[in-house]
This record gives sequence, structure tokens and C-alpha cells, in this order.
Amino acid sequence: MSSFIVPRHTFHGPGSLENLKEVSGKKAVIITGGSSMKREGFLDKTINLLKEAGIESAVFEGVESDPSVETVMRGVKFLRQEKPDLIIGLGGCSAIDAGKAMWVFYEYPEATFEQIIVPFTIKPLRNKARFVAIPSTSGTGTEATCVAVITDTAKGIKYPLVSYEICPDIAIVDGELARSMPANVTANTGMDALSHDVEALVAALASPYTDMLAIGSVRKIFENLPRAYKNGNDIEARQAMHDASCFAGMAFSNAILGIVHSIAHQIGGMFDIPHGRANALLMPNVIRFNSRETTKYELLSEILGKESSEDLAREIEKLRELVGIENSFREYGIDPNEWETKLDDMAQNAMNDPCTGTNPRKPTLDEMKKVFMCCFEGSVFTE
Ligand SMILES: NC(=O)c1ccc[n+]([C@@H]2O[C@H](COP(=O)([O-])OP(=O)(O)OC[C@H]3O[C@@H](n4cnc5c(N)ncnc54)[C@H](O)[C@@H]3O)[C@@H](O)[C@H]2O)c1
Ligand SMILES: [Fe+2]
Repeated sequence: MSSFIVPRHTFHGPGSLENLKEVSGKKAVIITGGSSMKREGFLDKTINLLKEAGIESAVFEGVESDPSVETVMRGVKFLRQEKPDLIIGLGGCSAIDAGKAMWVFYEYPEATFEQIIVPFTIKPLRNKARFVAIPSTSGTGTEATCVAVITDTAKGIKYPLVSYEICPDIAIVDGELARSMPANVTANTGMDALSHDVEALVAALASPYTDMLAIGSVRKIFENLPRAYKNGNDIEARQAMHDASCFAGMAFSNAILGIVHSIAHQIGGMFDIPHGRANALLMPNVIRFNSRETTKYELLSEILGKESSEDLAREIEKLRELVGIENSFREYGIDPNEWETKLDDMAQNAMNDPCTGTNPRKPTLDEMKKVFMCCFEGSVFTE
């Protein structure tokens, strides 16, 4: 028996932010990041639309990229003071994820961070507030996922909170909010979405529901990522990427992921490289490694007019080049000596990462190291 969990209500399309007027509630707290949403006028627009709906709002701003436990705790204090019945995450995934974690502590003041990071243990939410997610990046799909990533800065570890309880009640997928994303953020986040599709399709919990979303999303990404990268004002491409990212989120939230993410989590923890960019460098060789155990990659090759899993790996390498992403971690600028010193720990931790459990092929430690090394050098993985 399988289940499929997504937000109760998803509004989508350019201008769909306007649908905030239909939301019910008394008091909203808007959780947002640094400055882009304010600069582009979307924060004021959100406040005004809520006002039209008869909802008063307060703003918690300044959530940093890769939000910390401290930021979450400051936000919780703010929520306790403002007592909202609606929490709105507005901005990049970092702002929305911080909001999801604040929501958990707002509902359960006695909970600790150590408790809530144990997968699928968060108690029922929605006793005090509902959650609305409004993304401004087209990558993680957090508006539709059961995941929030919070960083313990003291330990230098990123923790995923995983629970279907934190899947938002309402997602607003408005491509207008993504217009101002710089080209490199567009490329990195778009590749993150693609990696969610490619991993969800072959993951252990994949189902016909998640397959359809992953396949539809891959088609949209190949057609629209180069367009959105070249011209940020191409609203058709922006909306298509926003939709594709949401589809990918729905797919991976239910099918889970594989070793692209297991490896990327380690590299992201040790080196300064955006998550989606690391995924882009890992995907082709992970496809080559996994292809012995699955024929499903061919479904993706077919929609690209190709045949084999190797064709898919090569098409991803071509797409990577089109959006200005290099071929290897070495080319990205990671120091080879530092990489080698950290390799054993990174490979061992990748073996223990929860995403390794749902990868279609179970790697040995040596195989894991080989995938790391091929991606570092930019060489093709062979058995
Ligand atoms: N919740 C999930 O399901 C999930 C899945 C994978 C990764 N993550 C986590 O998500 C985080 C990354 O999120 P992200 O990729 O959305 O990046 P982000 O939220 O950190 O934003 C990246 C940068 O882009 C800026 N930005 C965002 N939107 C913009 C816009 N429209 N215009 C101009 N600038 C804009 C931000 O201010 C920031 O500087 C990481 O912490 C990662 O670990 C979460
Ligand atoms: Fe990801």
C-alpha cells in the first residue's frame, strides 16, 4: 500500500499571488529572507492582499541562506508574541524551511530540536496555525514537500526535518516571484529540481503518481531552464520552471531520493558550493552507476528523443553546459588536497545518509568513493 501527500490547495500561474485574498484567517506572520521580496514589492503586495482578506499581518525578516537553529528560535519567540493563525513562508526555500521549523515549535513549545529531527515523529500540527508557502526560487519544491532543512551552525551539520505534518496547507506557485533570480541561482536551483525528478523516478518508494510528475517535470526543465537562464524576464519559461520545481517536490516528497543527494549533503557540508550545482555535477555519473539496476532512466531518454540511460547522462551534461555549469568539482575550484583529506569521511557519511536507503543500487564504500572521485575529476564512471 502506498500513499501520496501534497498540499491541500495549490494556486499556480503568473499573478496567482492574488489568490491570497481567498485565504481565511485573522492574523498572519510572514517569514521572509534578506531583501529580494521587499525590493521587488512582493512583501508589500502580500501584506496588502492579506488586508483585503481581512487578515492583519506582522513580518519576521532576515532569514539567512541555510537557516540556523538560532534563527528558527528567534522566529518562534516572535510567533509566540504575535499569536498568528496563519504562517506564511515567502521567498527562497531557506525562508520557507525556517518558517516550517518555527511552526513546529510554535505548536509544541516543549519540543526540542533533537526530538523533531527524528524522521516522521512530529506530532499533529494545525492546532494553532496553518501554513502557506510562496516560493521565489524554482528548485527545492519546498512548497509541496514534507522536508525542511535547518543547519546546526555549531556542529556544521545540515539537518532535514522530515514529516508529512510539515507539508504546507496552501502553496502559491507564481512565476512572477522568480523573475528577479540571478542567472546563476536560476541554473543551480533548476538543476536541483531536475535531480529531484531523476532520483524520485528510480527511488524505492516511486509510484505511478510520482513517476508522472517526475517525467512531466523533466520535459519542462529541458525546454525551459535554458530560456529562463538566458532571459529572466521570459515569464512563460519562469512559470514553467516554477511548476516543474513544484512537480519535482511532489514527486520526491513521496518517492524519496537517492545517492545524488547523499553525496551532495556531504560535499555541501564540507565545501562552499550551492546544493543544486553539486547535484548537477553528480547526476550523470550516478545515473551511470545506477543504470545496472533500473531501466526507468530510459523513460526520460525517450522524452528527450533519445534511448539509453547513457544518452540521458549525456543530455544532462549538455544542459549543464548550456546554463554555465562546469564539468567537475575540480573545475569548480575545490582544492584536490582538501578533497582527498575529506574523502573517506564524506564517503562514509554518504553511506549513512538516509537517501542511500532509497537509492536503486546499494553501493559498497569503495564504489561510493569511486563515484565521488569520478565527479571530482570529471571522468565517466565505468564498472
Ligand atoms: N525543503 C526541502 O524540500 C529542501 C530540499 C532540498 C534542499 N533544501 C534546502 O533549501 C535551501 C536552499 O534553498 P534555495 O535553493 O531556494 O535558496 P535560498 O532560499 O537560500 O536562496 C538563494 C539566494 O537567492 C536569493 N533569492 C531567492 N529568491 C530570489 C529572487 N526571486 N530574486 C532574487 N534573489 C532571490 C536569496 O536571497 C539567497 O541569497 C538549502 O538550505 C537546502 O539545503 C530544502
Ligand atoms: Fe535537492
